[in-house]
Amino acid sequence: MTPSTDRPASWQVCLVCANEALETDASVRCRACGGLLEVRHRQPELPGAVLRGLFQTRCCSRPDTTQSGVWRFQELVMPTAGPSPVSHPEGNTPLLYRRAIADWAGVADLFLKHEGHNPTGSFKDRGMTVGMTQAVRIGARAVACASTGNTSASLASYAAHAGLPAFVLVPAGKVAQGKLAQTVGYGATVLAVRGDFDACLRLVDATSELLGLYLLNSVNPFRLEGQKTIVLEMLQQLGWEVPDWIVLPGGNLGNTAAFGKALEEAHTWGLIDRVPRLAVVQAQGAAPFARGFAGEFLQRVRVEAETVATAIRIGDPASWDRAVHSIRYTDGVVLAVPDAEILAAKAVIDRSGVGCEPASAAALAGVRQLTATGKIPHDARVVAVLTGNMLKDPDILLSSSGRDTIKEIDATPEALARAVENRGAGRGEK
Ligand code: F0G
Repeated sequence: MTPSTDRPASWQVCLVCANEALETDASVRCRACGGLLEVRHRQPELPGAVLRGLFQTRCCSRPDTTQSGVWRFQELVMPTAGPSPVSHPEGNTPLLYRRAIADWAGVADLFLKHEGHNPTGSFKDRGMTVGMTQAVRIGARAVACASTGNTSASLASYAAHAGLPAFVLVPAGKVAQGKLAQTVGYGATVLAVRGDFDACLRLVDATSELLGLYLLNSVNPFRLEGQKTIVLEMLQQLGWEVPDWIVLPGGNLGNTAAFGKALEEAHTWGLIDRVPRLAVVQAQGAAPFARGFAGEFLQRVRVEAETVATAIRIGDPASWDRAVHSIRYTDGVVLAVPDAEILAAKAVIDRSGVGCEPASAAALAGVRQLTATGKIPHDARVVAVLTGNMLKDPDILLSSSGRDTIKEIDATPEALARAVENRGAGRGEK
């Protein structure tokens, strides 16, 4: 964010020791101290209002990469990228309004930014297009990640697009079927690790460089540059009128970090005139960041994580420090919601015809809790981010209560007529 022009367009800086690296340095972590890196960009030469106009003209453009909801914002993401990034394209996800959902949450002006509409069904594609473009740019021979499922599906897809072999480490038996099926289908090598997500990440983080694998978890700062566009696109859809709150689920905290950075840059560079507050929602059984927030972030908290929302079953989030900065910068809050509330929120979202995976529903459960406690006023404008598609986790949809709604009938007009008359009465009847 340094305005001086003797800088290159973009570079990397260590968030721990402030050591700087070239943008094209292939190391995912600081070479001096092993700390997390951040990508910095020189202030764009165009003023905010001109940039906003430029982004607008690229909407619905002819089919090239500016059609992507990530690369449309290239000046703020990776100004130096060539003309052919590894792009599906991605993004361009809808901002939805459903009265029933807003009523349930207790806030009239509630929009849902549905990232489940991305090519592989989650927000991860926004980060992966940038991360994979960087992988190709630095000449990576193979890519890897640890994942609760969505990162692995996205990595597998973009690696296939780039023609690179992909290795994913997932916690054995703890990944939703839809995600696993995608990952296998796109052709990645799946390693089911006997351990949780935190163990998977520690393992791949410690060994990837040695094994010649380019790590594409959200510790990789280029992933976050892409994920910033969730916020940028949402602001564009709102005509750059800033909402009061943005509410999102938190697991490894990459998104929390990316959202704070997006808002800080957008404000500094004149795209928005004020900064919305962030609310990060964790599952109660996997809430180290919420506990940290309650203790004013005086210490880093680690827990053994357990929750029905497997995507955010994370006890030791990698982007902790970056995320603390986001919460402080936006005067944000962090809260935890019980699994039962996550499932209740998911049922409301699903029955409204929108649908999402369990972790995404945590955002809505969080909005409800924040309005019930008066933290979010009923007349606030709120955007909740739905991070993943409903089909990611079919098991939860077809769990015992879901299966009960499927009614098997004989192939006769009488049986069909009876079922229509009963409209669900006598469920489970054969
Ligand atoms: N929602 C979904 C659907 C996710 O898949 C994830 C993270 C999150 C929320 C949390 O986002 O980590 O940026 O705080 N999934 C990762 C994965 C960990 O491996 O797919 P975060």
